[in-house]
Amino acid sequence: MPAYAVIGGQWGDEGKGKIIDYLARDASAVARYSGGNNAGHTVINDAGTFKLHLVPSGICWPHVTNIIGNGVVVDPDVLLGEINELNLTPEKLVVSDRAHLILPYHVELDRLEEARRGNDAIGTTGRGVGPAYLDKVNRTGLRAGELLDPEDLATRLPAIVEFKNEVLTKIYGADPVDIEDIFRASLRWATELGPYIKPAEYFIAEALESGENLILEGAQGALLDLDHGSYPYVTSSNPTVGGALSGVGIGPRAFAGVAGVFKAYTTRVGAGPFPTELLDEVGEKIRTIGKEVGTTTGRARRVGWFDGVAGRYSAKINGFDALIITKLDILDGFDTVKVCVAYEIDGERTENFPIDSALLARSKPIYEEFPGWSGSTAGITRREDIPANAMAYIHFIEDILGVKASVISSGPRREETVVLKDIIPR
Ligand code: IMP
Repeated sequence: MPAYAVIGGQWGDEGKGKIIDYLARDASAVARYSGGNNAGHTVINDAGTFKLHLVPSGICWPHVTNIIGNGVVVDPDVLLGEINELNLTPEKLVVSDRAHLILPYHVELDRLEEARRGNDAIGTTGRGVGPAYLDKVNRTGLRAGELLDPEDLATRLPAIVEFKNEVLTKIYGADPVDIEDIFRASLRWATELGPYIKPAEYFIAEALESGENLILEGAQGALLDLDHGSYPYVTSSNPTVGGALSGVGIGPRAFAGVAGVFKAYTTRVGAGPFPTELLDEVGEKIRTIGKEVGTTTGRARRVGWFDGVAGRYSAKINGFDALIITKLDILDGFDTVKVCVAYEIDGERTENFPIDSALLARSKPIYEEFPGWSGSTAGITRREDIPANAMAYIHFIEDILGVKASVISSGPRREETVVLKDIIPR
């Protein structure tokens, strides 16, 4: 089973859900490898519209097994909500027993820590994702598999919750959480989620040997990566390609492809530097036409032109071998469109993405401008329907990223897709 990673190349919200739903036709399993229910993947097909936060985007295909990998942090009630809404069964969904749990105190701490950051707030989604990863690294997290051993849980939980209550009450002056409530909830989660919780590594390893295709589903995007992103305005996991290996437990030789998903422009949710941000009526127009509102939080997304400096960096650190461009149709009818080709930082031109957020905040975009295209690309499915100017724009992005485009998405529905080259060979 060759593995194909599908990774966000920007600051998240690139349209990975739609693309993975499309590609999953040719896969037998889709595995999410990072993040939690901070993600919001929208899938629209003949079966309806699905806004997924934890369940992988292959869920609409009857032949696809969906796996929540060990690298994901799982809020059990959110997952149960999605399982019930989608009528899922353990044949359709596997949850790694190594995946860490987001518990109620993580959600509370996320909120309190953001409030404490004041003007330096990251703009987290408030879903407890960061505090859950913090506990994972601190060796004080609880894993899904531990729900299956209530006796052991009863011995571990008190010390963990006692410490959390010290933090909640003494540092934040907040109310403590009730350990009995958490223990009772854990027993319920064990009953309801137990059948889904399995050693996913073995499941994936067996599938790898069978020669079928596995899609590794990224969440967020490379520029929100804890190591490579615009730190500290990042998420707390690795959406980049290394996270795809460690987040499901496979080796690099399993990889057959690493596709980067990019919007035809750029968006960002939450705080942090954004060199190509448009704070004018052009930005407002793109936001309105592109319906740029967060799937998870409902926040208006910040909008800007395509950032080729950030994109090239993203392509390099992930080793993208295929480019997927989404929301091309949103740029239909603009007189001109722009791509940032370099930054000017303190009077110096650079084509490198700076490590320091303060430098990124001082980066002024240097643009190349292109004539727009008339006519609509919305819903097109054939290469020959891409207007010449739109194709020139795509080619310019290919050149600057050093990666050939394989798929162009022309709308939110599964079939609104132009395939230039198959990502998964048919
Ligand atoms: P957290 O992941 O909730 O801790 O949020 C950290 C940062 O990542 C914030 O700026 C969020 O807006 C951003 N973020 C987290 N998940 C997503 C996503 O799925 N799409 C876009 N931005 C996200």
